[in-house]
Amino acid sequence: MSKKIAVLVGSLRKDSYNLKVAKVFQKIAPPSLSLQIIQIGDLPLYNEDIDNNAPPASYSRFRQEIADCQGVIFVTPEYNRGLPAVIKNAIDVGSRPYGKSVWSKKPAAVVSVSQGAIGGFGANHQLRQSLVFLDMPTLQQPEAYIGNINAAFDESGNITSKSEEFLTVIINSYASWVEKLSQ
Ligand code: FNR
Repeated sequence: MSKKIAVLVGSLRKDSYNLKVAKVFQKIAPPSLSLQIIQIGDLPLYNEDIDNNAPPASYSRFRQEIADCQGVIFVTPEYNRGLPAVIKNAIDVGSRPYGKSVWSKKPAAVVSVSQGAIGGFGANHQLRQSLVFLDMPTLQQPEAYIGNINAAFDESGNITSKSEEFLTVIINSYASWVEKLSQ
């Protein structure tokens, strides 16, 4: 049976390149993985007062969806050389209530996607810092800093074969990582 893997996309815009990459991953993932893009744009900014008194339905929905998955792939742009707030907020929501983090032990991968040349390196590593604390074993190689992403899709919106090849290497490496950790 395939393992359910959550995919969190750090951009909310409809024409997001990160979303396009996440959808390519869904298409090319090996049969051992079933990728589900989980909504994070509807999560109110984390506030412990709200959480303790009347947690929003979106918090409960999100936590349950992550709890039901056996791994997490983060696909994120870089904002101002750091992590977009929407991804950090999702991480914070999933980490609470205290002692009930949904992230612990789930194998992760971080893929940063940018139209720039540096490939979102800053966001990628800032995100990794939180994953260390959250006890998520994270794929280290191959590194996935995907720059110049606008050149990876043709006029019809299809991914070029060279870029698909690279994404295939990443998703297959992640599948092996998940397999290794579940032994
Ligand atoms: C950006 N962008 C950007 N790119 C980058 O490589 N490094 C950066 O630090 C930033 N900073 C930044 C800040 C803000 C507020 C925005 C809106 C954008 C550009 C960004 O990578 C580009 O817009 C991507 O296309 C965003 O990803 P999506 O929305 O296409 O998935």
